[in-house]
Amino acid sequence: MGSSPKPRLFVTREIPFTSFDKVKELFDVTVWPEYRPPTKEELISRAKGSQALVTTLEDKVTCEVIEALLPDLRIIAQYAVGFDNVDLDCATRHGVYVTNTPGVLTEATADFTWALILAVARRVVEADQFVRSGAWRSSGAAWHPTMLLGLEIYGKTLGIVGSGRIGQAVARRAKGFNMRILYNDVRRYPEMEELGAQYVSLEDLFRESDVVTLHVPLTPETTNMVNERLLRMMKRTAILVNTARGKVIDIDALYRALKEGWIAGAGLDVYPQEPLDPNHPITKLPNVVLAPHIGSATHETRARMAELVLQNLEAFLRGQEPPTLVNTGVVKVRPPGF
Ligand code: GLV
Ligand code: GLV
Repeated sequence: MGSSPKPRLFVTREIPFTSFDKVKELFDVTVWPEYRPPTKEELISRAKGSQALVTTLEDKVTCEVIEALLPDLRIIAQYAVGFDNVDLDCATRHGVYVTNTPGVLTEATADFTWALILAVARRVVEADQFVRSGAWRSSGAAWHPTMLLGLEIYGKTLGIVGSGRIGQAVARRAKGFNMRILYNDVRRYPEMEELGAQYVSLEDLFRESDVVTLHVPLTPETTNMVNERLLRMMKRTAILVNTARGKVIDIDALYRALKEGWIAGAGLDVYPQEPLDPNHPITKLPNVVLAPHIGSATHETRARMAELVLQNLEAFLRGQEPPTLVNTGVVKVRPPGF
């Protein structure tokens, strides 16, 4: 890079870059060293003067934060596929590029969705507890025809809400379970139809599915989309799984649905407030499996996400449009490059 100063990069978490040397070669990089995220004030003071920022979904990149980092800030490379934590309009207005990590986490998230579906349907967590707590031994029988009965998944109806990359990957796995697949989204997806999935209204999807799984981004339209009205339409034997965003479900309504038996169970990886309060009433219910937002949490995927973050930063550095630019309108405000 000769003697021209490297752009400054602030990374809000330790991220598993396969080649951190490469990052250091291209950027004057600072990494937030703590496990906890920086507060708003810490983010602003530590990132001040940086032209590039790598963020996670827990960093609230509001307009206040973006404006506090001007005039230096040029690009926010989000280490996630979702970007509802970033004020996109504000970024675009100020010519700040925002990128995400789509595609590379699709299969891991679809796998984890299936882990939750099967865990809820077959009561895996309750079963584990049954063994460890001694309840199995004190039950008086090693095997019983009615012990821990669950929902059979094979051949049942799966309802997929949100049919982008992850929804489609969940559908592909459902073929192995010989499921009838229903889907809903703001538009039809030929990829879903090719898998034999049938496009239905949201209401029909909730009414007819044995398993409902959510794969929509968080937007004003999807906020609290799964409300009491839809939950009451579900079969009493059905289960609901959410690996998308917590605010898509009205959690108070879901709590009542689980408690009062409108539905049979739920598997959640995301919550309206994260971390979920361990005293939240939903944590007291046996028919819900709870995970701490780990949909993309595999060694392989987290490394690929880091690679994609670096590819975006590198393209921008070379004056090229980053490969997974989110706010594509920004190119009209300012060309890429530091
Ligand atoms: C995780 O939730 C992501 O958006 O990547
Ligand atoms: C995310 O990768 C999606 O579009 O489903």
